[in-house]
Amino acid sequence: MTKAPPVIAIDGPSGSGKGTIARRVASTLGWHLLDSGALYRLLALAATRRGISLDNAAALADLAENLDVRFAADGDGEGLIWLDGKPVRDELRTEEAGRGASTVAGLQPVRTALLALQRSFCKPPGLVADGRDMGTHVFPEAGLKVFLTASAEERARRRHKQLNDKGIDVSLAALSRDIEDRDRRDSERSVAPLRPAGDARILDSSGQSIEAVTNTVLDWARELLAEDL
Ligand code: DC
Repeated sequence: MTKAPPVIAIDGPSGSGKGTIARRVASTLGWHLLDSGALYRLLALAATRRGISLDNAAALADLAENLDVRFAADGDGEGLIWLDGKPVRDELRTEEAGRGASTVAGLQPVRTALLALQRSFCKPPGLVADGRDMGTHVFPEAGLKVFLTASAEERARRRHKQLNDKGIDVSLAALSRDIEDRDRRDSERSVAPLRPAGDARILDSSGQSIEAVTNTVLDWARELLAEDL
């Protein structure tokens, strides 16, 4: 039997820096990248556009199985994403899309419907997958599982800067509230709650530079996945 491509799973709460770190690690290793949060955001956006209610589990699962999405790398950027043939990147990053994603992500039929799509990203030479349940549900066999955290304060500050840089104006207090609400929903929900896999390595990125965190993950990858690199 041929060996499955290696996987690095990076999970954690919103604003912990998962996306940035996953992108850096994937680009250093020359591996594929899965931003699973983008799939939940895309689904919420596609549903809103079609007038499907965000609590209609059956219709959402059906939509999830037939999502017309395309991803492409754009060098050091956040990547390009098309929904129904049209670029959507900035719309996906709004807090509204994040809230919608968090709502649809609480529905088990939706999570099941998105499993095959997520696993289809696992191709040679390897995959770096970021999300909430990469190490616990989607890629339980991942050779390296990282649970990336940061204090709620620091996460709100980072998100604030990210949005400001894009010209999106939101208050830091409102963002903090949003992050805390979303953390609570994501970790208290009954299906696939946000929690580290039993065999995950916990990495607190508070006060650490992007380079330092990326290097820690790469060191762990060299230690645990030496034969795949
Ligand atoms: O990482 P993000 O902020 O783009 O994720 C948006 C929402 O999607 C987040 O609130 C929780 C949900 N999500 C999830 O439940 N499972 C994943 N693997 C990724 C995201």
